[in-house]
Amino acid sequence: MRVLGIETSCDETGVALYDGEHGLLAHAIYSQIPIHAEYGGVVPELASRDHVRKALPLIREVLDKAELTRTDIDAVAFTAGPGLIGALLVGAALGRSLAWALGVPAVGVHHMEGHLLAPLLEDSAPAFPFVALLVSGGHTQLVDVTGVGRYRILGESLDDAAGEAFDKTAKILGLSYPGGPVLSRLAEQGDPTRYRFPRPMTDRPGLDFSFSGLKTFALNTLREAEAEADGAIDAQTRADIARAFEEAVVDTLVIKCRRALRETGRRRLVLAGGVSANRRLRARMGEALAAEGREAHYPRPELCTDNGAMIAYAGWQRLNAGATEPLLFKPRARWPM
Ligand code: KG4
Ligand code: ZN
Repeated sequence: MRVLGIETSCDETGVALYDGEHGLLAHAIYSQIPIHAEYGGVVPELASRDHVRKALPLIREVLDKAELTRTDIDAVAFTAGPGLIGALLVGAALGRSLAWALGVPAVGVHHMEGHLLAPLLEDSAPAFPFVALLVSGGHTQLVDVTGVGRYRILGESLDDAAGEAFDKTAKILGLSYPGGPVLSRLAEQGDPTRYRFPRPMTDRPGLDFSFSGLKTFALNTLREAEAEADGAIDAQTRADIARAFEEAVVDTLVIKCRRALRETGRRRLVLAGGVSANRRLRARMGEALAAEGREAHYPRPELCTDNGAMIAYAGWQRLNAGATEPLLFKPRARWPM
């Protein structure tokens, strides 16, 4: 079965073709970053309009790349939520009507399930069971995964998601949107010993997170540095603050993941969602788990952030389990996994 996947939940239009026998045939991502950059964040109405403009050309591009035509599509999967409702509606309306026109089944996919299953697209796919750390712009969750659709939430952020904390701290530091990757690049030049940020909620039992205090800590650190410098801080100080922030987030995530693995007795950890593209997180998590004889799995960076491949794949899994979407589809801005 060949599944066309369509992702439009936020500011990336992603399209892919997944084949049950041959794996990922082709995928394409169009990022709206330049459109939203001048506003410092995603403008929902502009996002919807741009998905309208880009989704069909991307579907053609992916079919061409795979040297297939629309009659080779056996099913259509689209992101049904959570996300920006207008943006979701574009992909859902397109995906559902395309499936109807082609006379094939359609399936609505949970965006976070897409992220969670993305590491299974790789050659070194982890076997079930595993613990998944989902770290994106809207979610931070630890999930015990015993199979497709068999998820138990172990812990989650009580306030900001990890990606949101990256983005807000980047804004405080005057970095451009989207802040996460920009902050991370800057942090590479930073001295990790100059400032020390707290590791929130690691000194008590439990698997929940709280990241909102870190941006306040960054703001206070910046203010103090500015007062000391009697004005604007230098580039090195900015990089040092970025580094201290990143170390704190990474440390916190590593501590909680190790705890989750210990408590569940699992050997494998899967990292997914935009923040799992973070190089420092990947390196530190890999080292920490290897030292305990455990494994860390993560998708290639382009499949960490939003993409159509994860939706095509999760849709394929859902269709195999017998799920289909009725003609009257219903995208959901909020939707617990
Ligand atoms: O999964 P994703 O593309 O979209 C959501 O579902 O939210 O995640 C986007 C988030 C943003 O907050 C972005 O700043 C963050 O992932 N991100 C990163 C990196 N790449 C993306 N954060 C830290 N380091 C990175 N390299
Ligand atoms: Zn996402």
